Amino acid sequence: MIEINNLTKVFKLNKKQMMEAKTKDPLKRAVDGLSIRANDGEIYGLLGPNGAGKTTTLRCISTLIKPTSGTVSVEGHDVVKESEKVRDIIGFLTSDIKLDENFSVDYMFDFFGRLHKVPRDVLRSRKEELFSYFGISDFSSKKIKELSTGMKQKSAIAVSLVHDPAIVIFDEPTNGLDIITARSVTDYLKKLRDEGRLVLISTHVMSEAQKLCDRVGIIIDGKLAAEGTVPELLALTGTNELEDAFFELYKNKVA
Ligand SMILES: Nc1ncnc2c1ncn2[C@@H]1O[C@H](COP(=O)(O)OP(=O)(O)OP(=O)(O)O)[C@@H](O)[C@H]1O
Ligand SMILES: [Mg+2]
Repeated sequence: MIEINNLTKVFKLNKKQMMEAKTKDPLKRAVDGLSIRANDGEIYGLLGPNGAGKTTTLRCISTLIKPTSGTVSVEGHDVVKESEKVRDIIGFLTSDIKLDENFSVDYMFDFFGRLHKVPRDVLRSRKEELFSYFGISDFSSKKIKELSTGMKQKSAIAVSLVHDPAIVIFDEPTNGLDIITARSVTDYLKKLRDEGRLVLISTHVMSEAQKLCDRVGIIIDGKLAAEGTVPELLALTGTNELEDAFFELYKNKVA
């Protein structure tokens, strides 16, 4: 279970960032009092427009950055006080951590496997399973910089799953993937969910979220605008599609 209580993350902006954001305020409240609970055995989707605070939230959960205030726990472990324990049980995929481009996927997979202390024979069979499922075997010995966007994304997904994590946190997992590859990724996420794992994703692809997520949390301006199952959100907004529900909520929040 992931439990987020009143999470706030404030970034201090430098002069250049202030100019880019066209603001005189040096403090950016990226996440603002967010509380969410995601349970084992479900796919939870964080939905929201660009800059809503999705990636920042996922980075706090994944121990890459520290909350300014509020608490986050993963299977009962506090992300600040027990960050190593949290890192052991999560698999994290993000668009801002790239695999080292001069190595092959094969090498990176083994490297992260050793880092997570995966026994050698287990590592070999995990590699066989994941490389074959995601069709990585054909290019596994090529340097990552020679791969296409989709090949890189599939590689990053396989590497993030090397230690068979109980909790999978994927920031926009199907970004840049064609529909066939995207489907293989979402099918894999369903398989992980059906095995009882917790899958937390961020996306702005509403049609994907509608089909994939057991529950969704809609984030606007760092705050939770609504949360529930897709049917609940449709009922709440009197709409038939998640995309329309999103627009309804967005209109009300921004207006
Ligand atoms: N390291 C940082 N320093 C300063 N500001 C930041 C930093 N990281 C994020 N922000 C700001 O915080 C806000 C939320 O960003 P975040 O990346 O969490 O949004 P997002 O919901 O993931 O958006 P997207 O859909 O575009 O990926 C944005 O205004 C962003 O500019
Ligand atoms: Mg993001």
